[in-house]
Amino acid sequence: MKTKGADLIWFDGECLKWEEAKIPVTTHALHYGTAVFEGIRGYSTQNNLYIFRLREHMERLHRSASVYSLPMKYSIDELCDATLDLLRKSNVKESCYIRPLTFVGLHGIDLNITKNSPTHVTIIVFPFAKYFKSEGINTCISSWRRIHDTSTPPMSKAAGNYLNSILATQESKYNGYDESILLDREGNVSEAAGENIFLIRNNVVYTPHIGTSALEGITRDTAITIAKKLGYEVMERPIPRTELYFADELFLTGTAAEITAIVSVDRHSICSGREGPITKQIRETYSKIVTGQIEEYSRWLTPVW
Ligand SMILES: Cc1ncc(COP(=O)(O)O)c(C=O)c1O
Repeated sequence: MKTKGADLIWFDGECLKWEEAKIPVTTHALHYGTAVFEGIRGYSTQNNLYIFRLREHMERLHRSASVYSLPMKYSIDELCDATLDLLRKSNVKESCYIRPLTFVGLHGIDLNITKNSPTHVTIIVFPFAKYFKSEGINTCISSWRRIHDTSTPPMSKAAGNYLNSILATQESKYNGYDESILLDREGNVSEAAGENIFLIRNNVVYTPHIGTSALEGITRDTAITIAKKLGYEVMERPIPRTELYFADELFLTGTAAEITAIVSVDRHSICSGREGPITKQIRETYSKIVTGQIEEYSRWLTPVW
């Protein structure tokens, strides 16, 4: 990762200088993709820097590792504490992206990862603002299908899974789109290259259920909670590709993307090319929640200072 962030990187229990956090080229994860990771946001406000749903992210990191029996040397609590320790020692006060990563170290060419295999944990932090440049994005359906639970389980946020997202992203960018949407093995909508997807028709909010190869997104869960709280019916069900073209509104959710409106799919305009009113309501509520403006959701925020 080129992004140089804070001067320190948390590496197996120590805060090392960025330049000193190095690994050998024989690292197993580099050859076989044996790594799992998380993406977490810290939101700067006038009062504090808040980490959004830190614990849920570390829980998912543990679940992702368990799929491949990657030994986790640190508990969920220890990883949460390590994140706070890193941010405090690095004196981070601005909005940031936090990247915990667990990977297999020196393990030769042995593919049999067991509970005795050597793993390492790093936590990187760097300043981060918006992921997508525009308020509403143009998308296409990728010719690549989403990976499936019967091969490389999408529910584990594993490094190797992202080769699928990279192919889809390259194709969409080459063809002039902002983001790609992948179909699952059956041909229903799964998710975008790095985000979950939501569709709104007749004031009902739909999202593909997790059996469609979609990641169990933490922002997805947040958006579902917000939509229900705002009084909308939310349904998790299969969404055929064509239904995207008929949508009143579409939006993506993700830690990096937050809540981002889709204004076209395959050049079919959605909501006259603008963010729809329900998406706007959900996005604005999300912004308030992550910056500590809604007391009810303060349980999702970990103050750093
Ligand atoms: C493939 C994929 N789907 C969905 C998401 C959204 O997940 P979350 O909201 O937990 O960031 C991400 C981002 O982590 C992702 O990489």
